[in-house]
Amino acid sequence: MNTPQMAPSILSADMGHLADEIQAVEKAGADMIHVDVMDGHFVPNIAMGPTTVRTVRKYTNLPIDVHLMIENPLQYLEMFIESGATMVSFHIEACHAPLRIAERIRSLGAKAGIVINPATPASVLDEVLESVDYVLTLCVEPGFGNQVFRYPVLDKIRSLRKKMAELGIDVPIQVDGGVNTETIGDASEAGAEIFIIGSAVFDADEPAEALARLRNLASDRKQ
Ligand code: DX5
Ligand code: ZN
Repeated sequence: MNTPQMAPSILSADMGHLADEIQAVEKAGADMIHVDVMDGHFVPNIAMGPTTVRTVRKYTNLPIDVHLMIENPLQYLEMFIESGATMVSFHIEACHAPLRIAERIRSLGAKAGIVINPATPASVLDEVLESVDYVLTLCVEPGFGNQVFRYPVLDKIRSLRKKMAELGIDVPIQVDGGVNTETIGDASEAGAEIFIIGSAVFDADEPAEALARLRNLASDRKQ
């Protein structure tokens, strides 16, 4: 297993000081910047778009990890990747042809991730795992930051790891939603490697310190 990677989610950042917020977490060793895109249809909230990605790209050279919580993701891939997204994930619940979407993301030069909601069983990803570069196991219902981590998702992470081992695949698992000092160790132990963190970083008095502390907690419990 690789070193834990930290992905601050700017959903909780102060948009009036976005450049400073991004540069602070980059200086603190963030491995990528996570951008949550919400369309008001797939989730009951609206947030960020290609313009946001373009703005983030102006202020950092880190990978930009775009999490699409939208219907019809295929239609928007090019816009996000042209705007600077280097990783794009989409929901298995939002599409009927995930392999086509993953192929399109890769053909546009980005990494493809598949996202699975808390109530969706891991087995729906069996036929998709070989075609993606990462898996995002969502630990809250999608749409909002600062929600409570749903512990049953840990079992899903374990079964995904088991399935991947059977298939001879080793792609990183991201955890997103409710990741904080209480939960990050358990997620790391279950097999997650990329930690998406919104409120526990950006609502902290010192985001840089919070990020370092979270990274240590993840490393300590890494399998
Ligand atoms: C939830 C989003 C998350 C969110 C996480 O729909 O996908 O990325 O920003 O926020 P926290 O870490 O506050 O739960
Ligand atoms: Zn997200």
